Amino acid sequence: MTGAPLPAPRGPLSAALLDTLRGSPVPDPPPPLPADPYGDDLQLSLYVLYELHYLGFDGVPDDREWDPRLLALRAELEARFLHALRTDVPVELTATATQALDELQLEPVGEVDGSLSHFLRDHGTLDHFRQYAAVRSLYHLKEADPHAWVIPRLRGRAKAAMVAVEFDEFGGGRADEIHAQLFADLMADLGLDTSYGHYLDAAPAEALATVNQMSLFGLHRALRGALVGHFATVEVTSSPASRRLAEALRRMGAGPAAVRFYTEHVEADAVHEQVVRHEVVAGLLADEPHLEPDVVFGIRTTDHLETRLAAHLLNTWQNDHAEQEKDRVTTT
Ligand SMILES: [Fe+2]
Ligand SMILES: [Fe+2]
Repeated sequence: MTGAPLPAPRGPLSAALLDTLRGSPVPDPPPPLPADPYGDDLQLSLYVLYELHYLGFDGVPDDREWDPRLLALRAELEARFLHALRTDVPVELTATATQALDELQLEPVGEVDGSLSHFLRDHGTLDHFRQYAAVRSLYHLKEADPHAWVIPRLRGRAKAAMVAVEFDEFGGGRADEIHAQLFADLMADLGLDTSYGHYLDAAPAEALATVNQMSLFGLHRALRGALVGHFATVEVTSSPASRRLAEALRRMGAGPAAVRFYTEHVEADAVHEQVVRHEVVAGLLADEPHLEPDVVFGIRTTDHLETRLAAHLLNTWQNDHAEQEKDRVTTT
């Protein structure tokens, strides 16, 4: 078995979908689609449908990946999600990919609100980091996989450079250096379960949306520009954030494998950033200049969904802190 266990449902749609994957007949009529495109029921259903294209689920036959009824449902959910993203992340006609990437790199001065890596470095506990790593494991245990889908859709410079970066992400020929494996090593160091998909039930809808976005962009050739924008955003923002996360783990007294995942990304992603900016993005736009708004859309959408996830986690942690303070005051 290489896949994950099926998760718990989060509403009528995901309940019906999970029953269907366990072998029940497709419900007729189908359950209504959830109203909230960012909510648990829609995001979990979409996540489960996408997972059929990765390692799948234990007990679900591999050929359900191409079940036309599941693909039809996926298309409806994708349309809702994409419509919400297009509404919430406008792209003006004059926006350029270079500007959009530069905007990501403006480092705020002083106390930083809304940044997970700043919070974890300056105030976080080991328990916060465990929660963070568990939630992130949904992506990092398949790190770089959704981006590989874009390779056949690229040509020339963009293709060569994309493959060069992906080669590093996949360990440069060494299984023990695959970044997903380095993340599993980090999880083991933090005392977390490293099995694939183990923390799906623990992940909030905001985290599912960040992974669904990559799968959506990766699986659709029409969204290749957005996928490249997403990839560029990850590489451009990773190096400074990884430095802060390595500092956080050192301060918390975590083991060397945990720290290594981030120190590896400080070095690697400083190089990847340059390759992605000057070869992947510039190469794609030299070939297909009409894709520039899509690249910007991919960059800004990534920022939009990451901001929502950060707000959710920071809010949870701040509420926990407030509860503890209340307990402390009432017991003293
Ligand atoms: Fe990586
Ligand atoms: Fe990278």
